[in-house]
Amino acid sequence: PAAPRINPSILAADFVNMQAELARIASADFVHVDVMDNHFVPNLTFGPQMVERIQATSPVPLDVHLMISDPDRWAPGYAELGAASVTFHLEAAADPIRLARRLREIGARAGVAVKPGTEVEGLFEHLHEFDQILVMTVEPGFGGQGFMPETMPKLRRLAEETRRRGADVWLQVDGGIAADTIGQAAEAGADTFVAGSAVFGAGDIDAAIAGLRETASA
Ligand code: DX5
Ligand code: ZN
Repeated sequence: PAAPRINPSILAADFVNMQAELARIASADFVHVDVMDNHFVPNLTFGPQMVERIQATSPVPLDVHLMISDPDRWAPGYAELGAASVTFHLEAAADPIRLARRLREIGARAGVAVKPGTEVEGLFEHLHEFDQILVMTVEPGFGGQGFMPETMPKLRRLAEETRRRGADVWLQVDGGIAADTIGQAAEAGADTFVAGSAVFGAGDIDAAIAGLRETASA
């Protein structure tokens, strides 16, 4: 799918009605699937068994965001079950480059995520190893938090470097993305937008997705 991409986060969906919730976001680009292990972040969602069912049921491809410890061990399993992209946290990976190569080998887009306080300069030389970089715009762990504008200079530097090197990397933002914040993230260089509460909290989901897309392309 072409940019701007809108990836609703099912963290904001009704977990016991997952099939119906997935059917509501058919006009999105990907479904963002937040895996949390109650160790890397202080919250717990679900693991590969649930993600495999989401993969079998979703009308759109899966964008898996792993907020887990030891992704070197667990991330390949999500690529193997068919997720279109698998993003692990830079802070948690023992060997990020090796893991990214492994994910690509299996056939997934390889993504790396950074928390608000994590710098990205170390990734500059390795941009070609990744298909997407996720700049967290809240502390990972919970939906419904406020967007952190102080993460924008980092996103801007990343976007500049990506352009300078001609790297083919999608730049994703996640956390507090809504009608009033998506514009500044797009302006700073993001092309892929995760939104939980702003999509699932809307009365008309298709209109919310279209509205976000339109504001991001303005
Ligand atoms: C937070 C998750 C996000 C979350 C975003 O740790 O990674 O994907 O669902 O939710 P909103 O859009 O409500 O901030
Ligand atoms: Zn996420």
